[in-house]
Amino acid sequence: MAAKQKIIIDTDPGQDDAVAILLALASPEELDVLGITVVAGNVPLALTLRNALLITGISGRTDVPVFAGCDRPLKREGVTAEEVHGATGLDGIDLGDPVLRAETTHAVDFIIETLRREEPGTVTLCTLGPLTNIATAFNRAPDIIARVKRIVLMGGAYFEVGNVTPAAEFNIYVDPEAADIVFRSGADLVVLPLDVTHKALTSRAWIDGLRALGTHAGEAVASWTDFFERFDTQKYGSEGAPLHDPCVIAWMLRPDLFQGRHINVEIETGSELTLGMTVADWWGVTKREPNALFIGSLDRDAFYALLTERIARLK
Ligand code: BDR
Ligand code: CA
Repeated sequence: MAAKQKIIIDTDPGQDDAVAILLALASPEELDVLGITVVAGNVPLALTLRNALLITGISGRTDVPVFAGCDRPLKREGVTAEEVHGATGLDGIDLGDPVLRAETTHAVDFIIETLRREEPGTVTLCTLGPLTNIATAFNRAPDIIARVKRIVLMGGAYFEVGNVTPAAEFNIYVDPEAADIVFRSGADLVVLPLDVTHKALTSRAWIDGLRALGTHAGEAVASWTDFFERFDTQKYGSEGAPLHDPCVIAWMLRPDLFQGRHINVEIETGSELTLGMTVADWWGVTKREPNALFIGSLDRDAFYALLTERIARLK
């Protein structure tokens, strides 16, 4: 088996973030989760932090530290998505109050210290929300950029264009300046945009299968998905909901399930109309250097089979 991969999960939970975190924490043979760093996004930071602690509690992995990070984008007011995720950001099953506590270190300091401490080229940043924490760390400590193994991120879109505006995907739109810093950083990027996540739709049979596990984790994921999918089924008329963020962790575990192209991707930060657009040179019409592996499709059945197998490991 390949060596265990060290990762930091940067996240703004969110039901789909929650499923991604459980997938990672249920995969200890492949993934060494060094920490979970939290950012404002789907809901304000106080709630994304609370949600991260609740999710870690469900996993039973009390060994994984959770760090609070940036509470607003680099240059703009925050934008949230309660209409998708509910008032708590994690509407679904009632989870009570978190038992775990966050670390006192700021998430940005943890990212910098970890990348400076670990062997260069061994730590992957898996990002599931706006890129504020990562860009702040890169701005403050540019030496860490060359030490990052890879950034695997959920964000952007090309053929699917936008979900929060006609042109932009939520994670990039919320903090386009942060995304611009990351996309220009020179770090190795793997991008899971809406083009692939909109093909990772849940199904009734999958949700029923989770409930049939008879576990707390299975019930939690089923209830989150039930809540989360009403937004997309109403908006797109689709069969189920796209589990965006689990695609990041699934790519870490099974990159063979995904297909994409090495292309140039740049972020629109100037235009009000298309702010946060990921301008992806899918057809290679410019001479701009490729900076990202931009994923376009996945094996949906294998992806959901992997999710079920891993969630079934949790209590
Ligand atoms: C992204 O935005 C959030 O609402 C989801 O958690 C996901 O990270 C999808 O556009
Ligand atoms: Ca997210």
